[in-house]
Amino acid sequence: MLIPQNLISPSLLASDFARLGDEVRRVEAAGADWLHVDVMDGHFVPNLTIGAPVVECLKRVASRPLDVHLMISDPVRYAGDFAKAGAHVLTFHAELAEKPEQQREIIRALRGEGIPVVGIALNPPCAIERVADVLDSVDLVLVMSVHAGFGGQKFMPEVLGKVRWLRERGYAGHVEMDGGISEKTIAACAEAGTNVFVAGSAVFGANDIPATIARMRETARAAQNKVLHAPS
Ligand code: DX5
Ligand code: ZN
Repeated sequence: MLIPQNLISPSLLASDFARLGDEVRRVEAAGADWLHVDVMDGHFVPNLTIGAPVVECLKRVASRPLDVHLMISDPVRYAGDFAKAGAHVLTFHAELAEKPEQQREIIRALRGEGIPVVGIALNPPCAIERVADVLDSVDLVLVMSVHAGFGGQKFMPEVLGKVRWLRERGYAGHVEMDGGISEKTIAACAEAGTNVFVAGSAVFGANDIPATIARMRETARAAQNKVLHAPS
């Protein structure tokens, strides 16, 4: 099966918020494909981060697409604001909507605002079957490899089975993983079928960001090649 190209999406949550514009330019120059923006409302997750006005400012300096991860309880209410602010990817959490019909309603609302890439995310305890019925209507599935809410947590390998499940089922859209992704953990993610890799602390905490992104990209590619050429 053909899966979309690999994309590295550094999470700005780990950047210096006092110098956001410089941080964007720094990771773009270092080879970032997307810019991951973590939006938290202090309700869906016990943390507060940034909202649409900040995304609008980011859009003015960014040349790469803004990959906006909504960790908020009412994505429909704010979808228009994020669309106007320039979000390219807008991802909401499946935990908010138990039934496929409810999920579809949110997806429709996001698309109605003109969002080019609509995604659905799952926290580690949420079973992948929860999104089975809407796979044909989303462009991206975000498999969380930590509990949403904070950067710098430890990668949870037990979620890799969800990625395999999606690819075995023939899902050909973007499969993104987020949380604890580094040069050490990226190979397992890529082998399972992930093509969008979010990394906060591993990128912004690196001494040499361009070299780190280059090594992450190369490690992911090598892991995928290994799977491709494995004897069956
Ligand atoms: C966690 C956020 C992540 C986080 C990743 O709730 O969704 O995007 O910034 O940070 P690291 O890569 O440090 O785990
Ligand atoms: Zn995120």
